[in-house]
Amino acid sequence: MVDLSPRLEQLSVFVPRGSIVADIGTDHAFLPIYLVQRGLVSRVIAGEINDGPYRLACQRVRERGLNAQIEVRKGDGLQILTPNEVDTAIIAGMGGRNIIDILCAYPGATDSICRFILQPMSEADVLRLWLSRHYFRIVDEALVREKGHIYEVIVAEHGLETSGGEAVVTLGPKLVANRHPLLSEHLDVLIRRRRSILAQMEKLANPTAPNYKRLRRLKTHLKQLEEIRKCL
Ligand SMILES: C[S@@+](CC[C@H](N)C(=O)[O-])C[C@H]1O[C@@H](n2cnc3c(N)ncnc32)[C@H](O)[C@@H]1O
Repeated sequence: MVDLSPRLEQLSVFVPRGSIVADIGTDHAFLPIYLVQRGLVSRVIAGEINDGPYRLACQRVRERGLNAQIEVRKGDGLQILTPNEVDTAIIAGMGGRNIIDILCAYPGATDSICRFILQPMSEADVLRLWLSRHYFRIVDEALVREKGHIYEVIVAEHGLETSGGEAVVTLGPKLVANRHPLLSEHLDVLIRRRRSILAQMEKLANPTAPNYKRLRRLKTHLKQLEEIRKCL
């Protein structure tokens, strides 16, 4: 039986029991193996774009005798799937913009999948805003600490995002609504980062018009985050 890191285990919590899952960017295939070995799902299609991790995933699945339940496919994002082949897709351990590219690239598959479990390694705010503007709603979220770092997990389904304004949407509507226990700490990190970027920008002697606009936007966003922080 494989054991998972806290980050990967949190992803497994959001997988509906008995569902058919695609794990995009599976790398070592730990998550598909865990889901199948524990009888949580019936079948997983594990996708991987790069040759090295693809071969490793195939080997790990074969060694455990799980070829009947886990199919490893080589290819880019959701393009390894035909529409309606899976009901849940996990896209974890990549940048937020890479996740957006994957969601955009093959609408036939994206539209046919009910639930997306997303774990961006960067620009989670950009991803959440994109989701809210492309008819996805965030139905659940979590923060998970692993080796001193806090990771964000977003669960999205098709539908209209109705919660809060832009600041709450980018921070995580479910994290805010549920007062996630790690939210204050996470917010402190975000506020510190934005203050530091702002200080750098303000050092520019004569900012260009686009930079000035960016500076104003950042100031507003920082104020909003500080307001939310006060309420926690
Ligand atoms: C850092 S690993 C994350 C592995 C695992 N999902 C996790 O969260 O631990 C990212 C993996 O995604 C793969 N990858 C990146 N872009 C991809 C894409 N467009 N389609 C499929 N796999 C991709 C990389 O080759 C790499 O193995």
